[in-house]
Amino acid sequence: MRPTLADATRGRILFGGDYNPEQWPEETWPEDVRLMRQARVNSVTLGVFSWSKLEPEPGAREFGWLDRVMDLLHEHGIGVVLATPTSSPPPWMGRLHPDTLPRDADGRTEWWGGRQHFSHSSATYRRYAAAITEDLAARYGTHPALTMWHINNEYCTFDHGDEAAAAFRRWLRAKYASLDALNSAWGTAFWSQGYDTWDGVLPPRHVHYLKNPAQVLDFRRFTSDMLLECFTAERDIVRRYTPHTPVTSNFMPLWSGQDGWRWAAEEDVVSVDLYPDPRDPLGGQRGALVQDLTRSQARGPWMLMEQAAGPVNFRGVNHPKPRGLGRLWSLQAVARGADAVCYFQWRQSRQGAEKFHSGMIGHAGEGGRTHQEVRRLGSELAELAPEVSGSRVPADIAVLHDWHSWWAGAHEGRPSDRVELPDVLTAWHRALWEAHLTTDFAHPEHDLSGYRLVVAPQLYLLTDTAVGNLLGYVRSGGTLVCGFLTGIADEDDRVRPGGMDARLRELFGIRTLHEWWPLEAGETVECAGLRGTLWSEEIEAEPGAADVVPYRGGELDGMPAVLRKGRAWYVSTLPEPHDLRALLASVAAGAGVRPVLEGLPAGVEAVRRGELLFLLNHGREPVTVEVPGSHRDLLGGEKVTGSVRLGRYGAAVLRP
Ligand code: GAL
Repeated sequence: MRPTLADATRGRILFGGDYNPEQWPEETWPEDVRLMRQARVNSVTLGVFSWSKLEPEPGAREFGWLDRVMDLLHEHGIGVVLATPTSSPPPWMGRLHPDTLPRDADGRTEWWGGRQHFSHSSATYRRYAAAITEDLAARYGTHPALTMWHINNEYCTFDHGDEAAAAFRRWLRAKYASLDALNSAWGTAFWSQGYDTWDGVLPPRHVHYLKNPAQVLDFRRFTSDMLLECFTAERDIVRRYTPHTPVTSNFMPLWSGQDGWRWAAEEDVVSVDLYPDPRDPLGGQRGALVQDLTRSQARGPWMLMEQAAGPVNFRGVNHPKPRGLGRLWSLQAVARGADAVCYFQWRQSRQGAEKFHSGMIGHAGEGGRTHQEVRRLGSELAELAPEVSGSRVPADIAVLHDWHSWWAGAHEGRPSDRVELPDVLTAWHRALWEAHLTTDFAHPEHDLSGYRLVVAPQLYLLTDTAVGNLLGYVRSGGTLVCGFLTGIADEDDRVRPGGMDARLRELFGIRTLHEWWPLEAGETVECAGLRGTLWSEEIEAEPGAADVVPYRGGELDGMPAVLRKGRAWYVSTLPEPHDLRALLASVAAGAGVRPVLEGLPAGVEAVRRGELLFLLNHGREPVTVEVPGSHRDLLGGEKVTGSVRLGRYGAAVLRP
């Protein structure tokens, strides 16, 4: 049995953040720990960017400072998620070993002076990374403060350099065995790209005009696999020392660079960093989407590794969180299955690239408003923990998502560059979120039998197995709704005969898919009972097809916009938000899926976790929510009968 998040939480909610004591004089540390205790911090992540402190010159080891920090934290009952520092190599590495530095598609080197300047394919980098990991594991594997390992940080680099090119060729040889197979899969008959030797095969470097899409797709797969090799190499080292300590590496939210399903399967704990824009009216929903995805990757409780206490510094204009919003979004994460609520970072830096990124203690210090809010949240989470930790979030609906399909569908020569998968996914998830329908995410080849409703906002690429899985799901009584640009290509990104998988066309009652009619910004298409945006299609339904919502007016007048055949639905446009919500809510009702709560005021989110009902007011105005029955609000302890009042960004956690 692999360890899980529960081995680190032990019934608590982990609360804390990245702690970078090496940026501060040692006299600050006792003060840090005192303030952490006050804020009910029970976990910090150490060492994420400490490589040059730990190994100031090749092969040297400076562990003294880390020993003292680990001991200090332990003395005060604060657990440590210990990071391997391998995301930011020291300057000496690039200087002595330029082969460790990645190159972009234009051949430019990514130099030290920032971070993440390592080539996933560099044997030298991997050797140094393994050595420091080994020594950390040997030294701290038995330290009583250690609760979890954090490998690297937000794996996200690409490399188009020579060593990566050689690794890419090895990866391709393992996949295709013969050049003929590669030439066929990549369609190299097009534009005279046929390869006569493996040595001629390159990463998709700078070209004159449009790259080969299948080559780009394989390069994305290769990159995800190389980074995963870096992760598993370090993971396996720490596992040898501490088989019972869980291992994680933090994802970025809805990040395209890693095959998130494959990666999650290799982790003991799935963790994510989440930074919605406080000014974004959809910030709460975007957060919910990432939380649902992360919970589904984890197949249970997950870790919010990083969020911001106040403003970030990576947007053009960086807004603080208004009073209460940080608490609301943290409770939202807990509602959606998080058993750890952590921040980047504990103490806001005074120097370096992120000195204007907030921390749990900002430049304003202990008395700062943000820190005071963090402190209150720490107490609330400590109270809540025994009621929620380890419990499950039930969902009857699965949203399908696949990274390979995303990569393939994003090719530069596509029918409309206005179609971006994250936007489409967000629109569909938003419709379900606003209808108070809790959703999991799933891969199209996953077992879907536990869901009453499955929606596929856009699966441009579908393997034969995935198509078979969807068909089988509908055959055994499931309801399926697919959005446009689904089932277009096979796993080599070869367009299916007829322009869309024949079995899917038959499933939806599509006789011919004549043409796509992508829409310009601001352009809409009228349909009976709804208005479409972004995309429309010229479809001929099977003769006698029932239940068709037609386009009205324009080029597509009278043709089907939405088709239904039995329990299979096809939506050939992106309905405006309220129309998509109405459509999916009615399909869900037909499939027997009920919203978490009926009659909720706008902007109020309701989620069940275990026995508990979380009510979250994303609005700035106070609202009253009718809740049948009688409950106890675990935030504050009051009895709730019939209705509960939520203030601006207010929340209630109700136990029957
Ligand atoms: C994450 C990263 C942190 C910090 C943070 C700032 O991407 O893991 O180290 O940079 O963002 O928002």
